[in-house]
Amino acid sequence: MSFEDDVTGMKRRLTRYGDDEFALFLRKAFIKGMGLGDEALAKPVIGIINTQSDFNPCHGNSDELVQCAKDGVLAAGALPLAFPTISLHESFAFPTSMYLRNLMAMDTEEMLKALPLDGAILVGGCDKTVPAQIMGAFSARLPFIQLVTGPMSTGSFRGERVGACTDCRRFWASFRAGTLDDDEIADVNNQLVPTVGTCGVMGTASTMALMAEAMGLMIPNSACAPAVSADRRRIAEETGQRITQMASEKLIPADFIDERSIENGLRILMAIGGSTNGIIHLAAMAGRLGLPVDLNRLDEMGRDTPVIVDLKPSGDGYMEDLHRAGGLARILHEIKHLLHLDAMTISGKTLGDIMMQNQPDWPQTVVKPCDDPIYPHGGLAVLRGNLAPDGAIIKQSAAHPDLLVHKSRAVVFDGMADLANRIDNEDEDFRADDILVLRNIGPKGAPGMPEAGLIPIPKKLARAGVKDMVRISDGRMSGTAAGTIVLHVAPEAAIGGPLNYVKTGDIISLDVPARTLSLLVDDAELEARKQAAGPLKQTPSRGYAKLFHEQVTQAPEGADFEFLQGVDKP
Ligand code: FES
Repeated sequence: MSFEDDVTGMKRRLTRYGDDEFALFLRKAFIKGMGLGDEALAKPVIGIINTQSDFNPCHGNSDELVQCAKDGVLAAGALPLAFPTISLHESFAFPTSMYLRNLMAMDTEEMLKALPLDGAILVGGCDKTVPAQIMGAFSARLPFIQLVTGPMSTGSFRGERVGACTDCRRFWASFRAGTLDDDEIADVNNQLVPTVGTCGVMGTASTMALMAEAMGLMIPNSACAPAVSADRRRIAEETGQRITQMASEKLIPADFIDERSIENGLRILMAIGGSTNGIIHLAAMAGRLGLPVDLNRLDEMGRDTPVIVDLKPSGDGYMEDLHRAGGLARILHEIKHLLHLDAMTISGKTLGDIMMQNQPDWPQTVVKPCDDPIYPHGGLAVLRGNLAPDGAIIKQSAAHPDLLVHKSRAVVFDGMADLANRIDNEDEDFRADDILVLRNIGPKGAPGMPEAGLIPIPKKLARAGVKDMVRISDGRMSGTAAGTIVLHVAPEAAIGGPLNYVKTGDIISLDVPARTLSLLVDDAELEARKQAAGPLKQTPSRGYAKLFHEQVTQAPEGADFEFLQGVDKP
């Protein structure tokens, strides 16, 4: 049964007993056990995915938002029914939430296909949840709206404004360097997350919320309202109203999202100085619709898109400041000359129409004009060279300007265990200008591409005042982190990418303006090292680990599962 079928509500997707009338009779009998009557059960059904979990503080307001969304659905004349899926939080997912993103996308897709839904609201927010939900909903091809839980509010540490998670890393680096004592770091720990909601800086959650809104998948100006605010509740209620209309219009995002929407997402990623994870997730989401994301195009766009949003880690502010400044609408107006204003949105209007309806014009300092930006070019740059034949990413807006062109000795760590054993060893020979290389943390390597690309500064160098070094890996980095960090090196070491054959003492050359990442070792020597190397990582023998290893793609393809990419062939 496809979404286009005429039936609605409870009559959709009947369980196959071989007798549809009996299947409907039985379904209604069961759901009446929850107190619903025939009149309610005759209405269109809007499913609301609730990702509330005691392990997910970023979704700590999900129950409340579901209730507000239900109010909107009821007011618009449909029946709202909530149901759970997997919920992922960054700090509660071993080995890393990215390992489970595709599982959540599969859960989302299959539940959206299995239940009798005319439309769906996806309540998510923490980093991997929004891309996972959109990936699943694109593949399920039904009307949907993404509803994010919203950013946490800021806290205060001894008078200093703080919020997860750029400040988490900054204070931890100070603790490692010995400038913060045990009492102080314990106090910081109490203040960094003062409310429920997603990380309050321009990390992955904020990036994904703004990109999803710019791609036309959310209620206008709904990305930034704090998790604990009346605005957030009103947005949930409005989402309920709008999805009910979309269901009657049969307005399916998978049908109208196209290259223009994807490019708008990329532009916003650049203009906000967004998380490096944004590019992986966008590639995975677009891949579900058969729309490739070209790294060369990303780099091209980066060259003429300034970073104009003054939020940490590239700037100073927090998401609540961006909300007060006018949210995404303010950003859209600043870069409207770079956007596809004719791209369609869930509102049934184009991005340009929405922009004209929403024109914040009060004084503010968070969103800068294009001629006075935070950073003159896009936050992200794509590097290539013999160390990354299929590309690597650097967030140049969060890097130290003196290190953007750097040639030096590599110090290689073979994986997470090797890093943990050696990074703080006082006997290790570390120099301030070394290039730290961490391999085997790619999609298959770790597995799941953990956010370990922000290799810590060796303690003895941190104590000596070293704040940044060039660091290279085939893994990812939290969007809340800063430093001269080269990520997503492809192909990864675990499948025999060149990163696998670097040795400590080799010279590596990074040249961000020239977009190159080179290992200054000749091809014959590299080939000899390849021949002499041991076997590559073996496929796990069972379960999700086996599926993951066999199916996960490399970073430029979004690390989605190969068999989930593209659209169903009839
Ligand atoms: Fe959930 Fe940062 S940990 S958004």
